[in-house]
Amino acid sequence: MAEEGTKSGSVCPQESENVETVNGNEEAADETLSKRQRKKLLKQQKWEEERELRKQRRKERKQQRRMQRQNHQEEEEGGDVQSAKKRPRREVTPSSLRLVVDCSFDDLMLIKDVRKLHKQIQRCYAENRRALHPVQFILSSLGGQLKQSMDEKDKGWVNWKDITIKTEHYSEVVAKEELVYLTSDSPNVLSELDQSKAYVIGGLVDHNHHKGITFERAKELGIDHAQLPLSSFVKMNSRKVLAVNHVFEIILAYLEKGSWQEAFFTVLPQRKGAVAVDQDETNTQDKEEDDSDSDSDADTQDQTEKKA
Ligand SMILES: C[S@@+](CC[C@H](N)C(=O)[O-])C[C@H]1O[C@@H](n2cnc3c(N)ncnc32)[C@H](O)[C@@H]1O
Repeated sequence: MAEEGTKSGSVCPQESENVETVNGNEEAADETLSKRQRKKLLKQQKWEEERELRKQRRKERKQQRRMQRQNHQEEEEGGDVQSAKKRPRREVTPSSLRLVVDCSFDDLMLIKDVRKLHKQIQRCYAENRRALHPVQFILSSLGGQLKQSMDEKDKGWVNWKDITIKTEHYSEVVAKEELVYLTSDSPNVLSELDQSKAYVIGGLVDHNHHKGITFERAKELGIDHAQLPLSSFVKMNSRKVLAVNHVFEIILAYLEKGSWQEAFFTVLPQRKGAVAVDQDETNTQDKEEDDSDSDSDADTQDQTEKKA
């Protein structure tokens, strides 16, 4: 700096640092300032000019952060803060019933279906976390493409709470006599839930390409099996094979309401056209072979619409 000042021959370095002095006679100073000094001066002027703007932006960011914190708090409390304070919190009583999602069908699925299964499992986890009577959730045989999808798309799964995640097959985790495989092909119809049992749901999105596979597996292993009592309570205009998250949510809803009918109507998407058995005799019958949306994504929209 001192060197440049000397080179230009007329500006002392202290003057070039002093904006007030230079501003006093801008044009004259402009001529005598070196290129580097002019640049510095302009920068300083710009910084001064934008001071207010920076202050304003800081204020806005602070306000935004405050709003985000408030929204988050409201979400956690399930509504606006004021009314949440007045409302008594729901008493959560965990159920001893175990619900297993059997992920041993990984190599039967294409990656797009594995991704759908992943979403369905995320949905099960979220619903269980906010249930009145959360079940003991077990994921068994986790590995392969599904684990890869979870690692890639939702790294947070490693911090999931209130869930048991095993690489082992469910038969190595739960005693055989306590297992009941839920499968629409079973001739046994579930009438009520036994809290001491572990109910298994096949972690499979197969568009009915592997019809009867879970029923066969349950028979091979010699464990109990049963289908949900769908036909006793609802008529649907699609087949009785439901997606993993629907079965999971029906169990949660049954534990809360104590009624299959209410549980089915709370959970099943409207496009499945479910109506009560004693209503509307003209409604279409079960079309078991019709490949409906049972393997669709977690039906978030349908469910939101229904619950709204
Ligand atoms: C999309 S289905 C898979 C269908 C597969 N082809 C099979 O043989 O199970 C996903 C899982 O949900 C459960 N599930 C679906 N509909 C059911 C029903 N009506 N009753 C009992 N379980 C059912 C079964 O555990 C099934 O494996």
